Amino acid sequence: MAKAKFITDRGELEKLAPMLKAPIKRQVFVCTGKSCSAVGGQEVFAEFDRILTEKGLRNGKVTKGRNPMGEIVLTECGSIGFCSIGTAVMVYPDGTMYGQVQPEDVAEIVDEHLGKGTPVKRLALMTLPNE
Ligand code: FES
Repeated sequence: MAKAKFITDRGELEKLAPMLKAPIKRQVFVCTGKSCSAVGGQEVFAEFDRILTEKGLRNGKVTKGRNPMGEIVLTECGSIGFCSIGTAVMVYPDGTMYGQVQPEDVAEIVDEHLGKGTPVKRLALMTLPNE
């Protein structure tokens, strides 16, 4: 395995990862691990992708239909421990961990949480740090 070159120049880093220059407000992780996928994880991810892309909120390359200056980063992830209560969705930096999310819940999470900053209480099971 080759060791990655450590880059110190900010301009070079931004060229390689344009999201560094974007006004990112939140990152949404959708679990597409085995258990969540069995109850709709892929469909939940697809619905976030559809709505965020339509609204121009999903950060990413123009060639993929996304907005390089979009405020939301959408990421698939593996298991986060909600395997029996998926689909799991996490919103950062808020630290909100949602469970039992279905595709039909996604528009509400986008509008209320990502849009207005108010987590959807009926699905929000935990907020980090969980004290
Ligand atoms: S598979 Fe999604 S939380 Fe475990």
